[in-house]
Amino acid sequence: ADEAPPVRDLESLRVVISAGGTREPLDPVRFLGNRSSGKQGVAFARAALARGAEVTLVAAHLDPGLETPGIRVIPVQTASELALAVESVAELADVVVMAAAVADYRPATVAESKIKKDGQGGGLVLHLVENPDILAALTRARRPGQIIVGFAAETAPTRDELLELGRAKAARKKADLLVVNVVGWAAGFGSDDNTVVVLAGDGSIVAEAAGTKRAVADAVLDEVVALRG
Ligand code: CTP
Ligand code: CA
Repeated sequence: ADEAPPVRDLESLRVVISAGGTREPLDPVRFLGNRSSGKQGVAFARAALARGAEVTLVAAHLDPGLETPGIRVIPVQTASELALAVESVAELADVVVMAAAVADYRPATVAESKIKKDGQGGGLVLHLVENPDILAALTRARRPGQIIVGFAAETAPTRDELLELGRAKAARKKADLLVVNVVGWAAGFGSDDNTVVVLAGDGSIVAEAAGTKRAVADAVLDEVVALRG
C-alpha cells in the first residue's frame, strides 16, 4: 500500500510496553493463564517504533510470529516477573503502556512436584492470593512528564455500563489514559481488530477507535502525543 511514512512524533522517547498474558505456576507442569495473544501490545510497540521511539517490550507469552526487529524484548512468565521487569525499565521511560493481561491471582504455593489426582472423584480446591497491581504502583511512582497508559478489558451488556466500569477503573488506577477494551461486542482475544474507548484520568472520553490493533495503537499514541503537548 502507498501509505505515507509515519510522523516521527515519538522521536527518541523511551516507550515501555507490556504485552501478552502472565502464567502463574501451580506445579512444574501446570499454570493458570489467560487468553491474551499479545497482539495489541505488540501493535503498540510497532507503532511506537515507527514513530521514532526507543521501545522496550516486556513480553509474557506472545503468540508466535510477533517478533519485531528493532524492539528490545524482556521475556517474563509470571505477574511478579512482569512487575520487576516493568518497574526497572519504567524508571527511565517517557511513556509506559500496560497492555499485558496480568493475572489477578496466583497460587499461594507452588508444588515442587506434579500434583497427583486422588482418583476418588473428589474435587481439588486451589488457594490463590492476589498479585500486586503493577499499573497502580507505576502511577504512584510516576515522574513529572511521564505518561502512563492502562487498559481495561470489560464485559458489559451496554455501552453505558461499559463506560461506567471504565470510569471507576480510571479513578482507581490514576493512569493518564485508560483504554477500555470492548470485549465481547466486536473483536476479542486473538483477533487482529479491536474496538476501544479511551478515557482520560478523570473518566472523560478523549477518543474512540475501531479497526486493526495497529490503528487502535496509533489512535492512542496520538492522545499520548497530545498530552505531552
Ligand atoms: N494490571 C496491573 N497489575 C495487575 C492487574 C492489572 O498492572 N495485577 C493492569 C493491566 O495491565 C491493565 C489494567 O491494570 O492495564 C487493568 O487491568 P484489568 O484486569 O482490566 O483491571 P483490574 O484492576 O485487575 O480489575 P478487574 O480485573 O477486577 O476488573
Ligand atoms: Ca484483572
